[in-house]
Amino acid sequence: MPATLNRRFLLRERPVGDFDPKVLQRVVEPVPTPGPGEALVRNRYLSLDPTNRIWMGEGESYLPPVPLGEVMRGAAVGEVVASNSKKFPVGAKVAGLLGWQDYAVVSEAGDAMAQVIPGWLPVPLTATLGVLGVTGMTAYFGLFDIGKPKRGETVVVSAAAGAVGSIVGQLAKIHGCRVVGIAGSQDKCEWLTRELGFDVAINRRDANWREQLTAACPRGIDIDFENAGGEILEAILERMNNHGRIVLCGMISQYGKDQGNAPGPRHFVNLLTRRITLQGFIIIDYIPRFPLAQLKMLWWLKRGRLKDRSTIVKGLDNAPQALTQLFSGENVGKLMVEIDEAPTA
Ligand SMILES: NC(=O)c1ccc[n+]([C@@H]2O[C@H](COP(=O)([O-])OP(=O)(O)OC[C@H]3O[C@@H](n4cnc5c(N)ncnc54)[C@H](OP(=O)(O)O)[C@@H]3O)[C@@H](O)[C@H]2O)c1
Repeated sequence: MPATLNRRFLLRERPVGDFDPKVLQRVVEPVPTPGPGEALVRNRYLSLDPTNRIWMGEGESYLPPVPLGEVMRGAAVGEVVASNSKKFPVGAKVAGLLGWQDYAVVSEAGDAMAQVIPGWLPVPLTATLGVLGVTGMTAYFGLFDIGKPKRGETVVVSAAAGAVGSIVGQLAKIHGCRVVGIAGSQDKCEWLTRELGFDVAINRRDANWREQLTAACPRGIDIDFENAGGEILEAILERMNNHGRIVLCGMISQYGKDQGNAPGPRHFVNLLTRRITLQGFIIIDYIPRFPLAQLKMLWWLKRGRLKDRSTIVKGLDNAPQALTQLFSGENVGKLMVEIDEAPTA
């Protein structure tokens, strides 16, 4: 019988500026054998995230840079196919930092942040990367813990048709807020208002998007769920209300830029004069609180109050090219790769 092999994408060099798929090198290796206390996971879906670009850089961040020559770090979900571990029995579905590869070894020591997905969860595996996974948790804790929305307040969310943004807007609507989304195309804007119930959606590629933002927020902005940074953050800072909150979730427009030489945002002084709170956060700090939030999200999902959309690219070999979608704005909702059959020798 032919032996199955393990395709892996290694980080060959660090990207300079924008992400270039050529920095990743495809190799084919034997499938690893799990040792004592370890299990072998067959990856099924690989999450593509803007933070992949951060992890490729050499600067220290909230996780160390991916070492050159090592498998690219990435969140994925899969199924245990061989096991020497009671925690990860054969057949269990597992989510974690399983890497850009067909097969990953997880250990009870917890180095891949691997978690068994409860078997009773009535959702497809893709939802455990999207609305019930890190994406949904980022939206939930960012909005509720940091944004602290009150009914009737105006919430602006950038990258609004993306994975995190599309959930933030829906949660803010459930909470009774006025929600304004900023996205990169007319089609996305129509989806946000017609399907997801956003009050207004603004195409950031329109020449007059700043005027549209003023018109969409006649009572100013109380909460900014910031995913983009750059000129979008500056325009929002100019329009924030007294005692507003800025949830600094991401700054995708800045990834790959030399931060030591980047200009500061204009209107920054408004933080002072308008008593605005700006707080950054990293979702891994909230992992112990995930279960209750996941139950709440599941409740809204099953009642049709939350819609979960993904852009699924088929084939592990297409992952490097697919990652560029996040920076060009081609994806709608959660971008992931469905991993196909591994090659055999
Ligand atoms: N803090 C945390 O723990 C945490 C966790 C997860 C994600 N995040 C952050 O959350 C943000 C969204 O992540 P996601 O996974 O949900 O990705 P996503 O929104 O699904 O995809 C990224 C989107 O960003 C927009 N974009 C790309 N380049 C841009 C630019 N130069 N200016 C403005 N918008 C741009 C594009 O949408 P449009 O073209 O439609 O604007 C693109 O679709 C990212 O900044 C990410 O780093 C943070």
